[in-house]
Amino acid sequence: MNKYILGIESTAHTFGVAVVDFEGDILSNVKDSYVTETGGLIPLEVRKHHRRVADEVFKKALNDAGVEEKEIEVIAFSNAPGLAPCLLEGMDFSKRLAERLNVPVVCVNHCIAHLEIGDSVGAKDPVMLYASGANTQIIAYEAGKYRVFGETLDLGVGNFIDTFARYAGLGFPGGPKIQELAEECKTKDKLIELPYSIKGMDVAFSGLQTKLKNLRDKGVDIRDLSYSIQEIIFAMLVEATERALAHTGKKELLLGGGVACNSRLQKMCKIMCKERGVKFFCPDKSLLVDNAGMIGYLGLKMFKAGIFEKDLEKVDIAPRERTDDVEVSWK
Ligand code: ATP
Ligand code: FE2
Repeated sequence: MNKYILGIESTAHTFGVAVVDFEGDILSNVKDSYVTETGGLIPLEVRKHHRRVADEVFKKALNDAGVEEKEIEVIAFSNAPGLAPCLLEGMDFSKRLAERLNVPVVCVNHCIAHLEIGDSVGAKDPVMLYASGANTQIIAYEAGKYRVFGETLDLGVGNFIDTFARYAGLGFPGGPKIQELAEECKTKDKLIELPYSIKGMDVAFSGLQTKLKNLRDKGVDIRDLSYSIQEIIFAMLVEATERALAHTGKKELLLGGGVACNSRLQKMCKIMCKERGVKFFCPDKSLLVDNAGMIGYLGLKMFKAGIFEKDLEKVDIAPRERTDDVEVSWK
């Protein structure tokens, strides 16, 4: 009989369930994300959303994979980091299911899952640029742990883009719209001067936000602004990432997070990698954004290394767990 692990994601706006077989193949990866016009995120509302969609997402994941629930051997869920109400919903769902099926549970760190999924596209020991809505971090493995070499000092790059896009009346999510507008820019040779804020391997965006709002108020063309925003913020991210590559001596770059879907960011990363003789890896969009496939994928590695819990009383969420809090004993 084949063996399967269930992955469950619920750290923020996405509730996802995936079925992964014991070879590490992701057989299904279903999600339902809470979205609002404004992009605002009220944790208790998101929790209600997750509760409402959970059973349906779970059934679809089983269906898509052609697997019955009694074939599930273990459940992996993202217990950290994230919004407590969202994490609790994912944990309660996982525990109820684990009890019913009498299977153990694996607690997975969401950020590390973004990195470990790179292995499925061939990245063995990368520096990861994790650029999503809430997170902007440069992470790599060193001496038994995943370490954060650089990060945003204020808000995540996706939230930064979304905030400006909302201000400019572009709706939510802003990232894809800013990309589209940037591609329509006619004055690509005339970059608008914007604050470039990088300290070592850390970046900051809030000064830039103020300046952009001023320029928008003065009537600067939104296509020109979009183009310059992308050039500046992605140059900051690429420069910080390049420093992390130089610092660690690693020869692989991996992208993760929703903002990594941006083709301009991907292109800038590729150019930098080519110049440095570094291999570039970018998973499919479905594995870049928040998803349960990556949770199941890492959960499987941890389970095989003996990291799981049978006593559900001992399983808990860890909303503020940092990437380097996790002992990486599965590698
Ligand atoms: P996390 O919990 O990991 O921080 P998240 O909840 O913010 O993740 P993701 O799905 O990883 O969610 O990413 C969503 C973000 O990605 C949004 O801010 C969105 O604007 C941005 N985004 C999506 N596509 C693009 C794109 N083509 N260019 C730039 N940004 C994009
Ligand atoms: Fe994420």
